[in-house]
Amino acid sequence: MSPVFNFSAGPAVLPRDVLLTVQDELVDWHGSGMCVMEMSHRGREFTQIIHEAEADLRKLLNIPSNYRVLFMQGGAHFQFSMLPLNLSREGDTVDYVNTGHWSKIAIKEARRFANVLIAASGEESHFSSIPAEASWQRSANAAYLHYCSNETIGGVEFPFIPHSEVPLICDMSSNILSRPVDVSKFGLIYAGAQKNIGPSGLTLVIVREDLLGHARPSTPTMLDYSVHADAESLYNTPPTFGIYVAGMVFKWLLEQGGLAAIEQVNIEKAALLYEAIDASNGFYTCPVEKPFRSRMNVPFMLHDDALDDAFLGDAKAAGLLQLKGHRSVGGMRASIYNAMTLDGVQTLASFMREFARTHG
Ligand SMILES: Cc1ncc(COP(=O)(O)O)c(C=O)c1O
Repeated sequence: MSPVFNFSAGPAVLPRDVLLTVQDELVDWHGSGMCVMEMSHRGREFTQIIHEAEADLRKLLNIPSNYRVLFMQGGAHFQFSMLPLNLSREGDTVDYVNTGHWSKIAIKEARRFANVLIAASGEESHFSSIPAEASWQRSANAAYLHYCSNETIGGVEFPFIPHSEVPLICDMSSNILSRPVDVSKFGLIYAGAQKNIGPSGLTLVIVREDLLGHARPSTPTMLDYSVHADAESLYNTPPTFGIYVAGMVFKWLLEQGGLAAIEQVNIEKAALLYEAIDASNGFYTCPVEKPFRSRMNVPFMLHDDALDDAFLGDAKAAGLLQLKGHRSVGGMRASIYNAMTLDGVQTLASFMREFARTHG
């Protein structure tokens, strides 16, 4: 079979070397005679797997010792309700930045539990940019400030970490581990695993210790961060296989030279793709203003949407898969997470140039 390149927004491509190791170890993990899926989550083998995964993640992100790492379930969606339940009290105000689809869903959920102030919104620019930080409103006693560092659908990425006097909370689902980040600036970081970490079903939370233990009394046990922290992510049966694969992705990233090294590759890949769009004389357009263009998710439109089906069909025939844009925006989207190779992006850029030449 000739190679294919998978541009899915998530669940997304995983490093091939990791998949080959999974294949190799599937029925017999390290001579144990067991598949990781068959192991007790409290047994010696899995204890080693989860400890190594956490240690490698700490190394990658340089996570300070006063932060806890939680391997959870429920996706980023569970976090949308866990945040207000754990980090705000009844009647509190919480500040949210609205940069598009995922911000809006987080805001909608937070409104069920707290007063939400929209500190800034990209709505006026149709979410093609992020309002200048100096223009943001902050409520006097916000329990926290929430933002989404990369809008997976709109393709808008923060080129900066906002300043905040109150705990800064970030949905990093689609750009975590794509560049170095100063964890100490955050109160809590969360991310669904299915883009840059591993299989779906696993959700990563990195939380500053002093924010634990303040959940509202009515908070369901499973939604209380401190329950998971106290039990070292083993309060109930965790997504063991997902943690195992994520651990291997962390090792793979360390082998690539860590986040500073992968960032350079990500910069190169994104530049190649935006160049193919910008140099197409309007055949392709990207709706996002240049300073806020995502390195991970590249949305683009063809000048004539009657060509969309031909583009997708020809791309598929060329081994370039899952390029259809999100149903809410249409057009195309190429997700180029860490595991997407430079070769894959070069192949896509060449295909785009050729398609524009023959259909322009
Ligand atoms: C930025 C962002 N936040 C939240 C979500 C929702 O994640 P989940 O499906 O894991 O709940 C997604 C999913 O694609 C996302 O991209």
